[in-house]
Amino acid sequence: MVSERPENPAGNPFGDRHPTSHERMTGLSWDASYHDGPAPWDIGRPQPVIARLASEGGFTGAVLDAGCGTGENALHIASLGLPVLGVDVAETALATARAEADGRGIAAEFAVADAFRLERLERKFETVLDCGLFHTFDADERSGYVTSLASVTERGGTLYVLCFSDEGPDTGPHPVSQEELRTSFSPGDGWNVIAVEAARIRTRYHEDGAPAWLATIKRI
Ligand SMILES: C[S@@+](CC[C@H](N)C(=O)[O-])C[C@H]1O[C@@H](n2cnc3c(N)ncnc32)[C@H](O)[C@@H]1O
Repeated sequence: MVSERPENPAGNPFGDRHPTSHERMTGLSWDASYHDGPAPWDIGRPQPVIARLASEGGFTGAVLDAGCGTGENALHIASLGLPVLGVDVAETALATARAEADGRGIAAEFAVADAFRLERLERKFETVLDCGLFHTFDADERSGYVTSLASVTERGGTLYVLCFSDEGPDTGPHPVSQEELRTSFSPGDGWNVIAVEAARIRTRYHEDGAPAWLATIKRI
């Protein structure tokens, strides 16, 4: 069962895309996660590790936030003066992100786009952020997503992936191994994994965060 709440005029919550493995598993569209109050990952502020990266100058040039949700990371990066586009399939989350941008006077752009079809944006980005999206995709979905990311990342540009890790107590849902990250973003696919560091992802249920990896990946 998918949510009965229509999410586009045709009443089809998926538009012209296929439901993701996560949507098939839960029986709910991503948009439905945003219907009844904040989603578990929606902490109402940027992830601390992303804010730290931003303060260290980790984001440069045009920035894409893939699977931006309600946009807290994108809004934080945009507040530092960078041009930021946040994309998501959840229109409810994007409406919140746009309202927050307006309310805070931050010039960030938000658009509906499928992470598997980023080439449709017809734009390139020097820095791309994936905060909590990669880990929602199963093994069959990853290579298509990685190709899609490559199509919008400038050569020499940087991709950051913050995902749940499989190490440590209290792992989050969809834990990912370092090996899976390195296999997915291989030189043969146009990527060089520069670093994978242990980090935390805060959620509404883990104030200290769940174990995570922050991967820094360069587009070759
Ligand atoms: C775990 S949430 C993380 C949201 C946000 N990055 C954050 O840190 O709060 C994953 C997000 O990816 C979005 N998403 C899932 N599949 C997508 C796809 N194929 N294309 C674009 N966005 C997608 C979901 O709607 C959701 O907002």
